[in-house]
Amino acid sequence: MRLLIPCAAGVEASVKRQLKDLGYGECPALNGRIALEGDFYDIARLNVFLRSGERVLIELGNFPASAFDELYDGVYALPWEEFLSAHSLIRMDGKSFKSALGAIKAAGGVAKKAIVSRLKEKLHTRTLDEKGERAIVGVSLFENNASVTLDTSGEGLHKRGYRNLSYEAPLKETVAAAMVESSVFRAGKPFADLFCGSGTIPIEAALYALNIAPNARREFDFTKWKCAPDVLSRAREEAGDVRKKGIKLSLLASDLSEKAVSIARYHAKRAGVEEHIRFSCADMRTFSAEEKYGVLISNPPYGERLKEEDLAALYRDFGKLYRSLPDWSCYFLSGFEGAERAFGGRADKRRKLYNANIPCGFYGYLGAPPPRS
Ligand SMILES: C[S@@+](CC[C@H](N)C(=O)[O-])C[C@H]1O[C@@H](n2cnc3c(N)ncnc32)[C@H](O)[C@@H]1O
Repeated sequence: MRLLIPCAAGVEASVKRQLKDLGYGECPALNGRIALEGDFYDIARLNVFLRSGERVLIELGNFPASAFDELYDGVYALPWEEFLSAHSLIRMDGKSFKSALGAIKAAGGVAKKAIVSRLKEKLHTRTLDEKGERAIVGVSLFENNASVTLDTSGEGLHKRGYRNLSYEAPLKETVAAAMVESSVFRAGKPFADLFCGSGTIPIEAALYALNIAPNARREFDFTKWKCAPDVLSRAREEAGDVRKKGIKLSLLASDLSEKAVSIARYHAKRAGVEEHIRFSCADMRTFSAEEKYGVLISNPPYGERLKEEDLAALYRDFGKLYRSLPDWSCYFLSGFEGAERAFGGRADKRRKLYNANIPCGFYGYLGAPPPRS
């Protein structure tokens, strides 16, 4: 099957590296989706192991569609009866960009009619009760071409299951994981998030360093489809086998707000990584470190609640703090345009990244590397 992994703009390179680590080689990216070939076992593995992909989709067809009848015929020609049953709860999802069929709701309606009509004919039934397993069908129109997909994940892959409380502007887990993965942080290095909020970055850092598959404990839509073999338990077993055991991490999660710190601790406990993280309620400005060659990864405030001059002062103090730690590296994600200037120096690495559709800068400052032993 042809599989597609959609991901947030700016994290494609991270997802490609994760796919390579999972043994899938060099996978091409197109329009924010990374493509590869795979079977149901690969679908289970990708859902369980990927840290920054948003979903795992099966692309059933890709064809020209600049008019509704073309879309209907193209969707009707696909083998829906192999995946769906007379009870499938069919949910339509989609988007249209640079296409004559701009009204995506109407296009979804036409596509669903084609699916229903094909299923009735092939399954020899007059009714489809939609009381059973969910199947989210995606119709993505781009330059008059339709990509038609089935979503194997169901809930987005950022929903790991550990975060059920929220504090101000929580970061998407998939984006936090990409920030960690593209930094110099590795197991054994000190780590600190001085603006931890609900704890997303330190928790993702712990999962990454311990090689814990982020979604090993949750459910996925595909397991309920009649065509899917029982492959999830095998993928979960693999996750258990590769998890690093017997190591202790040195991660710090701190925040000015006591409430945020207690939420972060609660989430870390739910994620099973509480013992690896120290929690502290403190102003970022008071941080100092005895350990060397550490990594700061944070998502400082940038919302509308703080005035521009206060934001600039906060980033200025953050930069000052960073320069007091000469061998540490620092990465931060911010939607505040003046962030880099206020921080006080050109970043060594800079990337545009979207957090919940808000354009942000992801800045990286590299500290002196440890001497080679
Ligand atoms: C954008 S939120 C971080 C969200 C977090 N990454 C998450 O996923 O939940 C910014 C956080 O910075 C904290 N903060 C603001 N000023 C601070 C300061 N001077 N020192 C430490 N934390 C601060 C806020 O309390 C807030 O929790």
